[in-house]
Amino acid sequence: MKLKNLLLAAGLGATLVLGACGSDDSSSSDTSKKDESTMSDDSAKTETAVDAEKIFANNCASCHGNNLEGNVGPNLTKVGAKYSSEEIQKIIKNGKGQMPAGILKDDKEIVAVADWLAEKK
Ligand code: HEC
Repeated sequence: MKLKNLLLAAGLGATLVLGACGSDDSSSSDTSKKDESTMSDDSAKTETAVDAEKIFANNCASCHGNNLEGNVGPNLTKVGAKYSSEEIQKIIKNGKGQMPAGILKDDKEIVAVADWLAEKK
């Protein structure tokens, strides 16, 4: 039904924000960067079946806390000040230290959670 829209929105969102948000990228500042911002894709996000908060609650909160306060894993309430969405996506995919790789398999979920976390600053 809406799947096509969702895919479109996800692609659009990634494209739209290219270079639109250069606040926290000092190292890799080429235009292939997929930094997320609070631009017009917000409405699309709330419509999607991908609910970042829910995904986090189900997959990440056991280690990072229901309110990002931290537990086994570090506090993530200011993680957006430290990492861009792209960097968080890498952490989710590759793991980090004690954090296992591959917790999320679906790219759409990874991007949604990373975008959501990147706004925490
Ligand atoms: C098994 C426990 C565990 C789970 C589940 C887990 N993490 Fe982690 N996470 C950790 C630990 C431990 C670290 C610290 C790694 C290090 O720096 O050595 C970490 C680090 C991170 C960091 C970097 C924080 C920083 O300040 O450097 C991010 C971002 C992160 N996790 C996001 C997530 C997300 C998103 C999920 C869910 C998809 C998740 N984590 C699930 C244990 C976990």
